[in-house]
Amino acid sequence: MRIIVGITGGIAAYKAPELVRLLKKQGHEVRCAATEHALQFVTRVTLETVSGAPLYSDLFASGRTEHISLKDWGEMLIVAPATANIIGKVANGIADDALSTLLLAFSGKPVIMAPAMNCEMWAHPAVQRNIETLKAWDIRMVGPEEGELACGVNGVGRMSEPDAIAAAVCNSESRTPNSELGKWLVTAGPTYERIDSVRFIGNYSSGKMGFALAQALADAGAEVELVAGPTSLKIDHPRVKVTRIESAREMYAAATEVFPHCNGAILSAAVADYRPSECADHKLKKNGSEGMHLDLVQNPDILATLGTMKTDRQTLVGFALETDNEEANAQHKLEKKNLDYIVLNSLRDAGAGFGVDTNKVTIISRNGNRKESPLLSKKEVARLIVETITP
Ligand code: PMT
Repeated sequence: MRIIVGITGGIAAYKAPELVRLLKKQGHEVRCAATEHALQFVTRVTLETVSGAPLYSDLFASGRTEHISLKDWGEMLIVAPATANIIGKVANGIADDALSTLLLAFSGKPVIMAPAMNCEMWAHPAVQRNIETLKAWDIRMVGPEEGELACGVNGVGRMSEPDAIAAAVCNSESRTPNSELGKWLVTAGPTYERIDSVRFIGNYSSGKMGFALAQALADAGAEVELVAGPTSLKIDHPRVKVTRIESAREMYAAATEVFPHCNGAILSAAVADYRPSECADHKLKKNGSEGMHLDLVQNPDILATLGTMKTDRQTLVGFALETDNEEANAQHKLEKKNLDYIVLNSLRDAGAGFGVDTNKVTIISRNGNRKESPLLSKKEVARLIVETITP
């Protein structure tokens, strides 16, 4: 892979040449980009010698748009060390030197940051807010670690060691698409249950989790049948076929039709458990000052139905969105609905659940294995789920 190592001005910059060396040893082509401050800690000659390529550090030196040509060249950008300053710049869209300009231009390609700073700086709400912003944009953080810092105190802020950062690069390299994954069903988004011609019962699901799962499965090599409730999200992947539905019963019909032809299914949709027993074909009028009573009937449980249809060669994964007794409720759903895995997310975790770009999950398998994620972007959570449930 062609990797750009960006170096900013912190004492941990002295470890950057070792990172470059390890990456080259792994077979990557490496080029370095450094801020002016970084060059107070590590020299141009060192970085050019270990990388074997000219250093990019001056936005105006060449008279060419090198931040664009370097962006076109690079397949991944690692910022190590990443100071509070560069983290703040990227989170706020500031591009005022060679590296920050390159980082903004690099949007859409994989970026890893290894933060390093004093522990008080790391704990500052502004830094934490910026970190959350970057994670939500799918920028992956490695570290920081706890230990002795350059200022002599112990705390969280040490840059992860170069071998840990190099290992993170290996893990984030996308798997070779595996066509043996076959076909997978994914459900996503909310369902709308009509009350009359203008009103419905719905929920806050945006479809982001389910669309990220469809993308991750397709990237891994699967053919994906995505059955999506009402959402404005789009997905453009040759291996993803989208069927758009509105109600739980329509989702049920689409899912039960396609499931027998699938190797597995992940049901992340927030399906309405109830629907109005009748739907008026006109707009219901206000009835004086009297209240309105809706008679609700139960919708079919799609996941439980697939659990009864499932054969030994199929993998069935459900989600559990809980607000209390999380683990016990998730475990109960896993057993009752005959699942292989359940992905628990709790509305008590900040940044998890409906609408947001991030999630924090626990993946529980039928045989009792558990994997807990930190707060990650939904894209990263989706990759983690796919890695866990597929061979
Ligand atoms: O769409 P986002 O904004 O990204 O939000 C993501 C999410 C919060 C919707 C997602 O992460 C999530 O938790 N999805 C499941 C929501 C839910 O309905 O959970 P539940 O615990 O009520 O349902 C358990 C499981 O049964 C789910 O897999 C659900 O899809 C399925 N189910 C539920 C009811 C029903 N009638 N049919 C079903 O298939």
